[in-house]
Amino acid sequence: METIGVVGAGTMGCGIVLVFLNQGFRVVLNDLNETLINKGVDNIGRYLSRSVEKGKISGVEKDEILSRLTASDDINSLNRCDLVVEAVTEDMEVKTGLFKKLDEICSNETILASNTSSLSITAVSNATSRPDKVIGMHFFNPAPVNALVELIKGLNTSSDTYDRVFDLVIKIGKTPVSVQESPGFIVNRLLIPMINEAVYLLAEGVAEASEIDKAMKLGAGHPMGPLALADFIGLDVTLAIMENLHNELGDDKYRPCPLLKKMVRGGMLGKKTKLGFFTY
Ligand SMILES: NC(=O)c1ccc[n+]([C@@H]2O[C@H](COP(=O)([O-])OP(=O)(O)OC[C@H]3O[C@@H](n4cnc5c(N)ncnc54)[C@H](O)[C@@H]3O)[C@@H](O)[C@H]2O)c1
Repeated sequence: METIGVVGAGTMGCGIVLVFLNQGFRVVLNDLNETLINKGVDNIGRYLSRSVEKGKISGVEKDEILSRLTASDDINSLNRCDLVVEAVTEDMEVKTGLFKKLDEICSNETILASNTSSLSITAVSNATSRPDKVIGMHFFNPAPVNALVELIKGLNTSSDTYDRVFDLVIKIGKTPVSVQESPGFIVNRLLIPMINEAVYLLAEGVAEASEIDKAMKLGAGHPMGPLALADFIGLDVTLAIMENLHNELGDDKYRPCPLLKKMVRGGMLGKKTKLGFFTY
């Protein structure tokens, strides 16, 4: 695999672009319009400039890395990619619409991967004529530094597709963990209900946000408290995952906290809007 496509120039898309660029791949980035594309490319450039300041790469290396990135709001720009990683909004309708389109424009050999946090890979793959070449490739935030990639086999993902993506994950210096399809896979099945419970603690007035986070950092050894982590993930993404766990598993223990819903409706999405459980 030489050329990687990434759809979605948000938090995860930009991180995934950096992972592949840093490992010498050519990358094609796509989003819905020029403004979103430019914002994504600026973020990628800023990340690389910080790497230069820290002495991790030289200015010349930064320019060489960026020369391998193409960014366009035309989805047809992805038609020559060997692998396309989708990192768009956590919404089944949006993802299936996109996979249908990718199936039409990409070569029959192209593998289509989804970075979904919780949705069914089998359902996403059904939008294509190549369910054997569709796989879940779940990177973690921040993608350039987090070592884990959950690899999710849909019901029809072939062993060949799985093996090729497994080898690629090793090549980009990450650690794959194999997961059978199930809502939220491993990490989010455990992590997101814990964050949701922290929001309930806050809503019930049991403790202030900073106290809840301090307690989990010191008491449970977590590097980040659950509410700061929700802000970092994005409260909209956190809620979408919680709602998917609730819908798919049908158990009330996955009921999203009303305070989380209220904050998302009010546009308090965490770090990306500079306001969530904390101010940025
Ligand atoms: N935020 C996290 O910590 C995290 C971690 C792992 C996985 N994920 C998953 O990654 C995916 C993206 O999450 P994010 O946090 O980067 O979201 P985000 O909101 O930061 O970015 C999503 C981007 O997708 C674009 N987009 C939406 N529909 C599109 C389409 N049809 N074609 C092209 N672009 C489109 C949006 O314009 C936006 O720029 C979601 O499935 C999410 O669950 C998120």
